[in-house]
Amino acid sequence: MPTTEKIPYIPLTEVEQSAFCRTDESLDVKPLAEEFAAVVSWQSIPGEYHYLGGEELTRRIREARNALGTRLVILGHHYQRDEIIQFADFRGDSLKLSQQAAAQPDAEFIVFCGVHFMAETADILSAPHQKVILPNITAGCSMSDMARTDDVLDCWDDLTNVLGEGGIIPITYMNSTAAIKALCGRNGGIVCTSSNAPAVMKWAYERGERIVFFPDQHLGRNTGLKLGVPLEKMLVWNPFKPLGGHTAEELQRSKAILWQGHCSVHTRFSVAQINKARAAYPDINVIVHPECVMETGQAADFDGSTEFIIKKINEAPAGSKWAVGTEISLVNRIAQENPDKLVFCLDSVVCPCSTMYRTHPAYLLWTMDCLLRGEVTNQITVDEETARYARIALDRMLNEV
Ligand code: 13P
Ligand code: SF4
Repeated sequence: MPTTEKIPYIPLTEVEQSAFCRTDESLDVKPLAEEFAAVVSWQSIPGEYHYLGGEELTRRIREARNALGTRLVILGHHYQRDEIIQFADFRGDSLKLSQQAAAQPDAEFIVFCGVHFMAETADILSAPHQKVILPNITAGCSMSDMARTDDVLDCWDDLTNVLGEGGIIPITYMNSTAAIKALCGRNGGIVCTSSNAPAVMKWAYERGERIVFFPDQHLGRNTGLKLGVPLEKMLVWNPFKPLGGHTAEELQRSKAILWQGHCSVHTRFSVAQINKARAAYPDINVIVHPECVMETGQAADFDGSTEFIIKKINEAPAGSKWAVGTEISLVNRIAQENPDKLVFCLDSVVCPCSTMYRTHPAYLLWTMDCLLRGEVTNQITVDEETARYARIALDRMLNEV
């Protein structure tokens, strides 16, 4: 269907994004009952898990983990809390974890400590007998939720009507539903992560003169600029307006169409914060994630994925200073692991990604206790047809870039 004027929609995950922000206390784990005070949607689990403190949770998770042995593999995204990361068999960024999910053929269960789109990808890439589990089912992603599948399908219809078949190559950031990945797979498109976005975009421009990039306009714009795409040739697609808010001629003149989505965590980082850090430490290195807005990325010294940020700081000389624009749980971990360097978050407000943060250790324990009883909870499955086409787009990324 062509896109018509629609009522603008703000995802609940976006409304809830700042629920865990704080200025006066650390992120140390508290019993779940206390964390429930944060006004977000929580999955309800049995009351016996609500009052367990950090030490007891750690002890019981370790016991359950040992009992499950090689039947289980735990994947942890870099933005997870330390209390979760300590149990991750593999930790990584979206690209590394998707490769790990595909490289664990022996594990019966893959417990994905990350967010929903990552678990969907793990289900697509893992073997049919493996079960992928998301410990807290409410761990979504506000950016992914800004691209509803039906709106994306409407957009694709409009673009192919105006530009003709083959007139545009679809790219979707990993942070999107499996259905959007499948649309890319069906239509000569590809998936990217923040680690390989420039190489993926280059791949696409070798196959077509124009791209549409879902759902993060900032990663799309920052990557386009790196490849020399002029700013005025990149249009933002507003999903609530006919033709995304453009004329057919404007779309025909464009080189990149960027979905109007963003990460609520990374758009907090600003040029003013960078200026403040530089005023306090003239020899500071500023490093940010490419989900930040263009002005922030341009004012920084370096930008790259979580894996890039970690490597760059780990390899830096002792005594160097780093102001970092990415999620706080990761920034704190890099600081702890590099005591010979000064590492701090650009934002003085402690503001974790509220969906990543919902994987409280009580959920991990509950998940494993259920597995020990033979119950599989929160299994993430992608239907066969969607998985087949999404896999095509994922395989292009994994094998052709
Ligand atoms: P990467 O770990 O791929 O850099 O992605 C960051 C992120 O926002 C994941 O949701
Ligand atoms: Fe989504 Fe941003 Fe959180 Fe990543 S950091 S899961 S993009 S909201």
